Amino acid sequence: MPDSYRRPTAQLRADGSLRHLLTLEELPVQVIRSLLERSEHYARPFAQPAARSDLLAGRTVAIMFAEPSTRTRVSFELASRRLGADVVNIEVQLSSRLKGESVPDTVATLESMHVDAFVLRDVDPSVPDLVSSSVAEHISVLSGGAGSHSHPTQGLLDALTVRQHKGRIEGLRIAIVGDIRHSRVARSSWHAFAALGAEEIRIVAPRGLMPADDEFARCTRHTSLESGIADCDVVMVLRIQKERMTAASIPDEVSYFTEWGLTAARLRSAKQDAIVLHPQPMNRGVEIASDVADGPQSVIRDQVRNGVAVRMAVLEATLLRGRR
Ligand code: CP
Repeated sequence: MPDSYRRPTAQLRADGSLRHLLTLEELPVQVIRSLLERSEHYARPFAQPAARSDLLAGRTVAIMFAEPSTRTRVSFELASRRLGADVVNIEVQLSSRLKGESVPDTVATLESMHVDAFVLRDVDPSVPDLVSSSVAEHISVLSGGAGSHSHPTQGLLDALTVRQHKGRIEGLRIAIVGDIRHSRVARSSWHAFAALGAEEIRIVAPRGLMPADDEFARCTRHTSLESGIADCDVVMVLRIQKERMTAASIPDEVSYFTEWGLTAARLRSAKQDAIVLHPQPMNRGVEIASDVADGPQSVIRDQVRNGVAVRMAVLEATLLRGRR
């Protein structure tokens, strides 16, 4: 792994229901399937009003992100509000963590204010796990992205998006392309695709952005974009994560696009009806050309739309059963 990581605390309660969502690793496939089914219930076409209910009225969700986010933070907030919960956003850069307060002390403070769920993003991948091992029994911890290790709701929304467009995950050939070494999205989406029966998952990257040899078991590895996406049903392009690289290893953007940018011409190597995903934010003209990002094979906006539905399903699954 590119960063330190501890094994997750138990994510399921004794009765098998979901209490925490920290990683898709070791999550039973029936839990993944049931979250996707419930996400379908909440997903709505763009033109329709958003799904709403008051299932979580009286519950409080605290969102505490120590790394930048647009999609994950906003969609967790919208998901909480659309289920009737109260939401508090803790801007870490404006919080007492800057005065030296530890994460456990901040969490204990919010627990005293009757928070029912913490949604956490941190550069340190052990933070969601650490918090989940210390909070009171009725409280759930949901990861909004843990270092380079995991981004479980992104993995779920990627699987949901593929399933909506292809009707299934089973039997598909899926290519994950780009900066895989630093990508928590790649790790979680791979787990989701593998658990749901993808026929082949390829990791396609320049040698310097390949993950360690002992990661991504049973994936095939490709160091050429054209051969890596050849005959694939799904092409998932990843952002170059400059913030996780040392200055020496940051690729030159023009050269990267020349060799690794997904252009319309290169996309023709994949199946004619292949779909293109990108978790965003995108570096247009670096890992993906704008005419592909905005083109007919792109399902990137559906990924964003599905993010709210998936987070509603996760909040419902974790909070509805966790009664005080
Ligand atoms: N895909 C994703 O996690 O986006 P944000 O960083 O904007 O949340």
